Amino acid sequence: MKIVYFGDPVLREECVDVVVNEKTVKIADEMLEALKLYKGFGLAGPQVGITKKIVVIRFNEEEEPLYVFNLKFLEHSQEQNLMEEGCLSLPGIWEKVVRPEKVRVSYQDRNGEEHVETLDGLEARVFQHEGDHLYGKLFIDHISLIKRKLLKKKLDKIRKGIILEEFLPESK
Ligand code: NI
Repeated sequence: MKIVYFGDPVLREECVDVVVNEKTVKIADEMLEALKLYKGFGLAGPQVGITKKIVVIRFNEEEEPLYVFNLKFLEHSQEQNLMEEGCLSLPGIWEKVVRPEKVRVSYQDRNGEEHVETLDGLEARVFQHEGDHLYGKLFIDHISLIKRKLLKKKLDKIRKGIILEEFLPESK
């Protein structure tokens, strides 16, 4: 699976719920392979051109990857925090983003089992970042207009399909 970059309209689409079955788990398996190849923390359907609520998350090589289907946000904490984010669809761009510190989420795992969890720290951050993708949002939508203007040249390059080799898996 190839990563879809900023500028592709699919990244702005809203995703639909899925039934967890052999077919959708297979899509998630393939997304996980792409995630490993591109060395990211998380990958959402639209980033491989699929407008379905499928997310895969992998914090490190030792931990089991998470298969997150039909992710929903039930609660957000009032407290917020600031963390630097990047995105496989926006290679080379890193910006600090303010988001709620804790979130309560529901999702189904690869067996279709329902999970309701309260998350904080990096987990809360990655779930929110990936959750945004399911609604056509990107992390740069959260930063100030001034900061966004400063990124214009970089964003234009990505939009034109100019991706530095260091961000492509072949060079690794
Ligand atoms: Ni992303």
